[in-house]
Amino acid sequence: MEFDLAGGIAVLDFGSQYAHLICRRVRSLGVYSALLPHGTTAQELEEKRVAGVILSGGPASVSSVGAPMADPRIFDGRIPMLGICYGYQLMVKAHGGEVGTAEQKEYGRASIKVVEAGGLFEGLGAERLVCWMSHSDSAMKIPGSLQVLAASESSPYAAVRLSGKPQFGVQFHPEVSHTEKGQALLSNFVFGICGAERNWSMQGFLAQSVEGLSKLEGRVLCAVSGGVDSSVTTALLHKAVGERLRSVFIDTGLLRAGEAEQVKKYLGVELGVTITMVEASERFMKALAGIADPEEKRRVVGRTFADVFEEFAKEEGPFEYLAQGTLYPDVIESGRATGPASVIKTHHNVGGLPSDLSMKVVEPLRDLYKDEVRELGTLIGLPRKVVERHPFPGPGLAVRVVGEVTDEKLRICRQASKIVEDTLEEEGLYARVWQAFAYVGDDMVTGVLGDEGRLGHQVTVKVVESVDAMTADWTRLDPQVLARISNRITNEIGGVVGVAYSVSSKPPATIEPQ
Ligand code: XMP
Repeated sequence: MEFDLAGGIAVLDFGSQYAHLICRRVRSLGVYSALLPHGTTAQELEEKRVAGVILSGGPASVSSVGAPMADPRIFDGRIPMLGICYGYQLMVKAHGGEVGTAEQKEYGRASIKVVEAGGLFEGLGAERLVCWMSHSDSAMKIPGSLQVLAASESSPYAAVRLSGKPQFGVQFHPEVSHTEKGQALLSNFVFGICGAERNWSMQGFLAQSVEGLSKLEGRVLCAVSGGVDSSVTTALLHKAVGERLRSVFIDTGLLRAGEAEQVKKYLGVELGVTITMVEASERFMKALAGIADPEEKRRVVGRTFADVFEEFAKEEGPFEYLAQGTLYPDVIESGRATGPASVIKTHHNVGGLPSDLSMKVVEPLRDLYKDEVRELGTLIGLPRKVVERHPFPGPGLAVRVVGEVTDEKLRICRQASKIVEDTLEEEGLYARVWQAFAYVGDDMVTGVLGDEGRLGHQVTVKVVESVDAMTADWTRLDPQVLARISNRITNEIGGVVGVAYSVSSKPPATIEPQ
């Protein structure tokens, strides 16, 4: 299983928060794209036989000390190239132009006037376009070799071309959805300029992965949690290696309501995966007794999980492979090189799993983004309920129960979260928000039951929107929906008399309460 960049688009990463987005946009055009370190040389790109290269934006100034540089040969006009923002400024500098701090910084929407249609702007059908700008540096002077294609009020050189060559630079961000026709512009670059062919589809990925994975010799072990990534990993491996896959579901007692049943139904019964259910909730509760510190809770859950998993692997082994649901952003973030050599590597210590199991790690989703994983899961036959499931933290409800984890608080947290999820599902809102749950701590508030006053738990409901969990905004839920959630929680869950709604965004809060 090897996805190489031949015929695809390399994106060089100069540190922009949008660098991943460029890859995703290109892939959504049906062309494979991957993020490479900014220092990747022209020769390496040629050896990879890329159809073209895009230089991302970045936070640095091209003239500052230690600013990330590109191989100068990238700008010699041979490889089709698009420089975006910082990438564009590098292009200007490489050709002898001047980049400096603009008097008027541009952030947000700006209107550009296309002065040279065709090429990058082919068929866009508008002389003026709204673009997303985010820069303090600008091209101040451009050399004669660069031809101006578009200008904005504060950037006279908003888009340029290296005369007669397939190389372009834009000061704005075509990858951002606020840029009108940004995707059409990228499409012009990818197909019109680079001549790339559609070589990327989930169908193709599925067929290639199944073929590649079916060559694994020996038995494969996979821990499945009910989350999207581990469910798709299991389903894919089952398709490839059949009975040689052994999936294990460890019930930590810290999972969402109905998680075990869902795994049994959709993966076990419907897809025919053999899943061993290991009941370990008592062991986790014992290990967590008396611990209120969130980091300590994380460590204890991680260690206990590793112990239970290791015992299972030893009893049921040997296994040659350990399958993990690692995604592309995790691979890039952890600084692991892309390339065939690291597709299957010796297991050291991944995600808190034991380090001395001498299994090789196989990560079949390591080239995919989350939305692609969801598409793949749907193709394999997993239902919407599984592929659209919200993210859930590894330590589970241990970090949604504030303070010591007790059976009482776990029960309340699980039931209240189910009410939140079910209500959003009924309202058609579940798939539109990033996460929706309830958390509970030791806050007790006074309630009234008939004429009697009594103390009960206060539950906090949290619903957030996010694109990548780095930032998140609280969802402005309709008060009627909040009222239904609140009524159900206090009516159906014994011991709860108060419900609050979290209006905290990230930052400064985090998504999880702990
Ligand atoms: P925070 O709370 O840091 O969470 O804003 C960002 C995203 O990560 C999830 N999360 C975790 N996932 N182990 C995980 O596997 C953890 O310890 C953990 N803590 C938070 C969280 O659900 C959110 O999607």
